[in-house]
Amino acid sequence: MLFPAEPFKIKVVEAIQKTSFEERDRLIRQAGYNVFMLPAEKIYIDLLTDSGTSAMSDNQWAGMMIGDESYAGSRNYFRLEETVRDIFGYQYIIPTHQGRMAENLLFNAMLKPGDIVPNNIHFDTTRANIEYNKGIALDLVIDEGFDPDTELPFKGNMDLRKLVRVIDQHGPQKIPLVMITITNNSGGGQPVSMENIRQTRVLLQKYNIPLIFDACRFAENCYFIKEGEHGYHNKSLKEIARELFSHGDGCTMSAKKDGLANIGGFLALNDPQIAEKATNLLIIVEGFPTYGGLAGRDLEAISRGLQEVLNEDYLHYRISQVRYLGQLLLEGQVPILRPIGGHAVYLNAKAFLPHIPKSQFPGQALAAELYRSAGIRSVEIGSLMFGHKDRETGEDVFPELELVRLAIPRRVYTTMHINYVAESLIEIYKKRYQIKGLKLVYEAPFLRHFTARLEEVDS
Ligand code: F0G
Repeated sequence: MLFPAEPFKIKVVEAIQKTSFEERDRLIRQAGYNVFMLPAEKIYIDLLTDSGTSAMSDNQWAGMMIGDESYAGSRNYFRLEETVRDIFGYQYIIPTHQGRMAENLLFNAMLKPGDIVPNNIHFDTTRANIEYNKGIALDLVIDEGFDPDTELPFKGNMDLRKLVRVIDQHGPQKIPLVMITITNNSGGGQPVSMENIRQTRVLLQKYNIPLIFDACRFAENCYFIKEGEHGYHNKSLKEIARELFSHGDGCTMSAKKDGLANIGGFLALNDPQIAEKATNLLIIVEGFPTYGGLAGRDLEAISRGLQEVLNEDYLHYRISQVRYLGQLLLEGQVPILRPIGGHAVYLNAKAFLPHIPKSQFPGQALAAELYRSAGIRSVEIGSLMFGHKDRETGEDVFPELELVRLAIPRRVYTTMHINYVAESLIEIYKKRYQIKGLKLVYEAPFLRHFTARLEEVDS
């Protein structure tokens, strides 16, 4: 059997709208062929992101009702602290309104101008927060991590040879921390093996460099370890998580992913001095240390979400559902990044639309067509998101990968929804040569993909 049935039943439903082709055609033109500019109510299946889009459980909603909204010392904070210590094992828990604020506090507390922060691949907010704090972000994933067709079980692994080279070249005093992102979102949601984490730790200990995890999708990573790494099959997911985090000194976390919550995050650390610096800034930018920009009820939802996310039946269903979509697409010959990641299926837009050059945004053209044809929202991760003009030559520079991500919200869509997505894509693939490229008519100076406006190219 490809796909285990959902390990939950549905207590509350939210209606979603079907729209006509004509209406969607009008809406996508009005939105400048940019799916970020569409009204969400006009979307049938929304696969823009798995962040903050999870369905909370009855247990989490019940927890919301016992939110203690005291300004200081809320009981829900202490429960969150206890849960994070139990799973992650770190001493100091600093709540934040979402993951990127945890990043900001961490780099503010640890970076000096010109410092280097390696990662397997930095997520864009992580890179932006490092650069904002005048550091340099390096992506040191294994080479296969950049190749959409190599099948490897742990394609998010850090390349230790590259890491040694960077340490030798710049000296350990220039590297205040190393990060590992689990799972590696920017490289296709690929997991990192325990062996790779252990070896990274051993290397960094020689130089006294701390290791900090970007733990957004830690539970999904632990599931891959249990399933695919020798020696972990009979361990519980919590045991695996505890072992994994024991190799690091802290983590940043967006609870909008594997916290199964709609908002929230935290920074967890063992070093009291760094924790103190981060807490002092927290008070200025987020709030008192026991709420950090969240309501007491949010803290409770996160605490309960973190306990639920390590449930084996849940994770088995979760990873299998994403895989099921990927497998349907592969059977329909639709080109996707392999192996199928933990939270999303990534379409290879370069192979899907070989007639559209990168300068005409094939990924964005595919995302726009997926909405127009089927009411499905995805997100381009390619030339529109990362393309830019070279500062010296003024020439266009395009990224290697041209992807469209179909991120699956947790516990939200049923098997029939997934079938609908796959069938729609297989239909679009059959008439792919009718899809036209796009040209930019407006772009902002930074992060242009959010607000860009485009038009279809005629020829
Ligand atoms: N790190 C990773 C690996 C992420 O995927 C994200 C967010 C963040 C950090 C930042 O967390 O949004 O709570 O501030 N990823 C979302 C996505 C936005 O769609 O992949 P945040």
